[in-house]
Amino acid sequence: MTFFSNKIYTEMINLESRYMGLKLRNPIVAASSGLTNSVENIIELEKNGIAAVVLKSLFEEQIHYSASHTLMQDEYTNLYPEAKDYIRNYTAENDLNTYLRLIENAKKTVTIPVIASINCISDTEWIAYAKKTEAAGADGLELNIAVLPSDPNRESSENEKIYFNVTRKVTNELKIPVAIKLSYYFSGLAKTLTGLSETNIKALVLFNRFYSPDIDVEHEEIKSSFVFSTPADIAMPLRWIAMLSPIVKCDIAASTGVHDGTGLIKMLLVGADVVQIASVLYQKGFREIGSMIDQLESWMDRHNYRNIDDFKGKLSIAKTENPAAYERIRFMKYFSGIE
Ligand SMILES: Cc1cc2nc3c(=O)[nH]c(=O)nc-3n(C[C@H](O)[C@H](O)[C@H](O)COP(=O)(O)O)c2cc1C
Repeated sequence: MTFFSNKIYTEMINLESRYMGLKLRNPIVAASSGLTNSVENIIELEKNGIAAVVLKSLFEEQIHYSASHTLMQDEYTNLYPEAKDYIRNYTAENDLNTYLRLIENAKKTVTIPVIASINCISDTEWIAYAKKTEAAGADGLELNIAVLPSDPNRESSENEKIYFNVTRKVTNELKIPVAIKLSYYFSGLAKTLTGLSETNIKALVLFNRFYSPDIDVEHEEIKSSFVFSTPADIAMPLRWIAMLSPIVKCDIAASTGVHDGTGLIKMLLVGADVVQIASVLYQKGFREIGSMIDQLESWMDRHNYRNIDDFKGKLSIAKTENPAAYERIRFMKYFSGIE
């Protein structure tokens, strides 16, 4: 029986998990989102049973944007260039300091690991921001790296080089464990991810969910598509974690489409070390964490598992009796049951 469960099992069930070298009380982590952007929410997440939090990403682009936005206000339009530089730097510094204070205050208040998250554009800022989050007391750092391979004149290897360069530079400078959160937009996904896992990172977060455009047909305008995932979105990370977990050299956090205990169990079965959840917390509230823990424990009890390691990766491509199921991509009638 865990602290959050109200059920009694005949034998003790242990949900303890390890992720990025950090000891967690269970395998459920709050993904980076607006919900992890305040100490109050982090306290509530901890109370509801979350094992660790990844803070909202600090976006270099957003910092530049808000500094420029400040300068666009009427009162600043006639200033000297030096004064504008001062205000730009001051605003940027202020945003950065707010983030660093969030890390410090969260660390003072909760006992669960607090993982910072950054998304930068320039090489120098990746390193500078990373070092500052470490100095502020973060237990780990997630690099939210996003390169859309949309330039038809750019080789895929050039895009991949960005991931390797950022990773190498940041891990060379930091003592705290580093994870990379990325998308599936790679032509050689398995090769790139196994290559990245062989650097000094401690985990891969598979996968990020990005802003996607949609079309409003009445107004013939571009709009934002759904911000939140659905349980059906689990399919993409599930396949790739099943195929990659036996071969990568670091931990894996499953992200996207985990909305309940069943989704959590599926991800552990294919080899994820933890899941990261965001949409379900927005849609159902923090109490859902307790339900997910209950579902996991009662499933483990029914299946006679006492520890997560008893079943983690049992259905990965290396262990399943049907590895072809993960490799298959065509909807043939025989496999899908539908003509
Ligand atoms: C409102 C919202 C804000 C998010 N902000 C961030 C962010 O700042 N950094 C990041 O790496 N991911 C961010 N994400 C992505 C989530 O961390 C997560 O990877 C994604 O939503 C998929 O998980 P889910 O299916 O549980 O929602 C955000 C997601 C949502 C819904």
